[in-house]
Amino acid sequence: MKILGIETSCDETAAAVVEDGAKILSNAVVSQIDIFAEYGGVIPEVAARSHLEVMMPVVEKAMKDANCTWNDIDAIAVTHAPGLLGSLLIGTLTARTLAILHDKPLYAVHHLKSHIYANWLVGMEAATCSAEHKDLARAARSVSEGHAAASVPTFPVLALVISGGHTQILYMPSHDKFEIIGTTRDDAIGECFDKVAKILGLPYPGGPSIAKAAKEGDENKYKFPHPKIDGLDFSFSGLKTAVLRAVQKELNLPISHPSHDLKNYLTKKQVNDFAASFQKTAVDILLEKLSTAKQQHPDVKSIVFAGGVSANEALREKAEGYFPQKSLSGDNGAMVAAAAYYEIQAGKKPTDPYKMNIYPRISINA
Ligand code: KG4
Ligand code: ZN
Repeated sequence: MKILGIETSCDETAAAVVEDGAKILSNAVVSQIDIFAEYGGVIPEVAARSHLEVMMPVVEKAMKDANCTWNDIDAIAVTHAPGLLGSLLIGTLTARTLAILHDKPLYAVHHLKSHIYANWLVGMEAATCSAEHKDLARAARSVSEGHAAASVPTFPVLALVISGGHTQILYMPSHDKFEIIGTTRDDAIGECFDKVAKILGLPYPGGPSIAKAAKEGDENKYKFPHPKIDGLDFSFSGLKTAVLRAVQKELNLPISHPSHDLKNYLTKKQVNDFAASFQKTAVDILLEKLSTAKQQHPDVKSIVFAGGVSANEALREKAEGYFPQKSLSGDNGAMVAAAAYYEIQAGKKPTDPYKMNIYPRISINA
């Protein structure tokens, strides 16, 4: 079964064709990172407009790379929740129109399910390209030789979803069954990386910038407390504030000193040390909670990591479990197609293309 997956929940415009939930036949991603690096974050209206400009070329690229005509496609899957309203609208309207035009069943997929199912994908790396539209054809080309994953996760699975908008531990007894056993009470982990990067004057997106700076830094230079929260819930706003206070203290500035100005006083070495110390604390907090979750669910056979932060090398080095191919950690269409495949296997019915809704904030189980 070949599924065309479409993803536009945030600032990546993506489409891919995946066979039987695993084999990536094509995977085209246009990232808007270049645009938003200038602003230090995503501007929803700009994101939506950029999706609109590249959506159809990305779909056409995915179809061409997969050597598919519309006759070969069995279903269309699209992210309908959660995410930025305008961004979700462009992807879903495109998918709805294509489903009507080509008479294909249409499936609405939750973004976090997609991230989790990136761990069931095998095959080629994602083809990424910049927001420069003229570069689309060159940059969106797919890499032809992929590498197959050694194995797929075994149920019951514990999934750690770590992205820009979410931090959750989920217990999955079987395919397409999700029990949220831990969640963040405030900021998401990716958001915390992005905010700390801003304090340190590192470019957007903060996660990769912190990871890069951390390579040159001393992770034991600064000590940050772990939040004292019983159970499996997370909290990351305290860690962000702890970094802010430590930077102010290091620079002998008062706590009233504005956070956006601190970068002007920091040396490169201080930035690297703060990045490394913060990253170590963030990774340790994640792995501590995961270890508690494992103790509470001794029947678990596999652990999977999902979402943009799962690209983090320091985490990959310390953690044991399944990680998506690095290029599939961030947003892409292949994971949407994979998630839809397993939902269809579990009995999910298609959505009426004339009625599909979007939900900017909705639980994985809704
Ligand atoms: O899954 P994703 O691409 O989009 C959402 O669904 O939110 O995740 C984006 C988040 C951003 O906060 C970004 O800074 C973070 O993932 N991220 C990383 C790394 N690469 C991306 N965080 C830490 N280390 C990385 N290497
Ligand atoms: Zn995502």
